[in-house]
Amino acid sequence: MSGLFITFEGGDGSGKSTQIARLEVRLRTLGYDVRSFREPGGPEAGGIGERIRAILLDPALGDLDPRAELLLYEAARAQLVSAHYRPALADGAIVLGDRYTDSTIAYQGYGRGVLPVERVRALNELATGDLVPDLTILLDVDAADGLAQATAQGADRLERAGQAFHERVRAGYLALAEAEPMRVKLVPRGTVDVVGEAVWALVEPLLRMVRSGA
Ligand code: TYD
Repeated sequence: MSGLFITFEGGDGSGKSTQIARLEVRLRTLGYDVRSFREPGGPEAGGIGERIRAILLDPALGDLDPRAELLLYEAARAQLVSAHYRPALADGAIVLGDRYTDSTIAYQGYGRGVLPVERVRALNELATGDLVPDLTILLDVDAADGLAQATAQGADRLERAGQAFHERVRAGYLALAEAEPMRVKLVPRGTVDVVGEAVWALVEPLLRMVRSGA
């Protein structure tokens, strides 16, 4: 497969969306075909992914079983990968993912703590047909700071899970970065500009893998 697949990961409030938007603009300015997506979800309002997202983030559904939660994330992902990621990569595009399989390991595996991480990993492989990112950028954030930041706009179901949960999520992410240092790159906290430059330093060397229209 051609194209370039980059995912962003991090706790709630880590500033992922800001960094993805900046990177997208920078790449487009250079003439690259960039397609960005967020998980859980999909590009069309009312589409399959967005409908599953509405269930997953609804604060009224506090009693969602952890296995049901896991399978819903995987269902949304399976749809996104087959309908959008694979075709975009086959076109030679740069796909930017706001969250991907590492979120499920960190949140449903480490965070929930009731499902063995190996089983979560197996479901990730099933849902994605083994599509692994070329690069995963992990934006680190202190669990308490991130939550304060994220819940300033009103908490969704995951953000209500509490600080201990979010600390386990962060520990999970750090374990992933340690286990797969070639793919998962940890970017420490900093100003938007400093983090943006750190992100660019990771992305730029990979651009030789794709063509630019410019
Ligand atoms: P969102 O509002 O998109 O948060 P963020 O801006 O932090 O990405 O909500 C996504 C939530 O879903 C977030 O709390 C992380 C959680 N999540 C999982 O628990 N497992 C997953 O596999 C994914 C993709 C997300």
